[in-house]
Amino acid sequence: MSHRQMMDGVYRYQRHIYDLTRKYYLLGRDGLIADLDVPKGGAVLEIGCGTGRNLIAVGKAWPKARLYGVDISEAMLETARACVTKAGMGDRVTLAQGDACGFDAAALFGREKFERVFISYALSMIPEWEMALHQAARCVAPGGRLEIVDFGQQEQLPTLWKRALFGWLGQFHVSPRRELSGAIERLAQDMGGFPHSRTLYRGYAVRGGLIRV
Ligand SMILES: C[S@@+](CC[C@H](N)C(=O)[O-])C[C@H]1O[C@@H](n2cnc3c(N)ncnc32)[C@H](O)[C@@H]1O
Repeated sequence: MSHRQMMDGVYRYQRHIYDLTRKYYLLGRDGLIADLDVPKGGAVLEIGCGTGRNLIAVGKAWPKARLYGVDISEAMLETARACVTKAGMGDRVTLAQGDACGFDAAALFGREKFERVFISYALSMIPEWEMALHQAARCVAPGGRLEIVDFGQQEQLPTLWKRALFGWLGQFHVSPRRELSGAIERLAQDMGGFPHSRTLYRGYAVRGGLIRV
């Protein structure tokens, strides 16, 4: 089974209750959005955009921003298109099917670079996640930013909690990336940029990213 088929399988039914349920445990998404500080008229790309929930929030916070989303799951994109239309943002948001590890932004969106690129709780679902990280950084315009939020290593939470959470996440093909902070630092060295990363909520989540030079 391909990764695309697997994601469609995971979300075929989940997408209908996704936004309602995930707001309780995909923590840190709204903080990332609030910190995006999109320049006037700037272009924002979400990789692994899911239902479009985050893009809609960005659109409300920055009414002049141009919004783009890519996701591997056509099932999720179907829900995203409906949500974006319902939010009255059909003319501001461009959605496309593609693999985070190697999509052609120019072909999908008519542009190669974006002032802000973000990935929210998707790297933990992408087997070749470091490839996706490189692809994301390539899409960032000079002076622009890549921002990431995802599950952390639960460092300051009880071991039993961590074991139970990781076991449960595994059922949905989610693997929190222990090496995320190191990978961001290497990426910044390779591609040129200033990296940052920090844990949130006692290690429940991790925020990271870089500013491109
Ligand atoms: C946990 S959801 C997060 C959705 C959204 N970013 C959010 O914060 O609500 C992960 C999303 O990543 C997408 N995804 C998984 N692997 C992908 C890949 N290789 N390329 C693009 N999207 C992918 C899934 O289809 C799903 O929509």
